[in-house]
Amino acid sequence: MALLTIVEDERALAREGAARFAAIVDDATQAHGRAIVSLTGGATPEQMYEVLASHAQVPWPVVHLFWGDERTVPPDHPDSNYGMAHRALVAHVPIPPTQVHRMRGELVPDEAARQYERELMGTFDLMLLGLGEDGHVASIFPFSPVLEERVRRAVAPWVPHLNSYRITLTPPALLDARRILMLVAGKKKAHAVKTAIESPPDLQRCPAQLLRSADERVEWLIDRAAAQGLSSRSS
Ligand code: 6PG
Repeated sequence: MALLTIVEDERALAREGAARFAAIVDDATQAHGRAIVSLTGGATPEQMYEVLASHAQVPWPVVHLFWGDERTVPPDHPDSNYGMAHRALVAHVPIPPTQVHRMRGELVPDEAARQYERELMGTFDLMLLGLGEDGHVASIFPFSPVLEERVRRAVAPWVPHLNSYRITLTPPALLDARRILMLVAGKKKAHAVKTAIESPPDLQRCPAQLLRSADERVEWLIDRAAAQGLSSRSS
């Protein structure tokens, strides 16, 4: 069973998430002399990134940052996952630019995905992920062909309901992490949290169930509103 931590609200989630990040990065740098971290996009992590920006304990000079997915836009576009993380965190910490590995959303999507595969550095020390209301993780949406991917580590699927391509790490890459931290907030996510953690297996409808195969390495860090659908057995 994955670890489940329920905190009061989004502010507590940001603080607790930043503390987890710092502790996991510290463990990794103790063990390997560096930490390889994959960040998530979306709105939920922004507060946590802001807290991290002033967190004294993170040894940024030995951290490598990657992203789990990206929108097919330039880095300065409002929808850019890299752009958000840069404004909230990367621009404020002493991480060498060569260790900031963004997905090039401005390129032809498949080329960006192939380039990213060449840039990946093997097992992640920390995989930070969010959860969509429809149960998607990174840009692996319900019924996505990416769910069948067993070889590629980054691809650029066409996402019909977004009428757009996305660039995303694949299940083999997402699960190739020593620690996976799911960061989820808000009552809108309560149904997806319940489906991902408690409901019968249905990977096509809830890609977040992918994480069940890595339970011992997964922690769900969620706020009370997102936990409201869980049965007492889980919460
Ligand atoms: C993205 C994300 C995506 C995100 C969820 C939750 O590019 O949108 O990486 O997987 O984590 O959609 O997004 P919110 O935090 O905005 O609800």
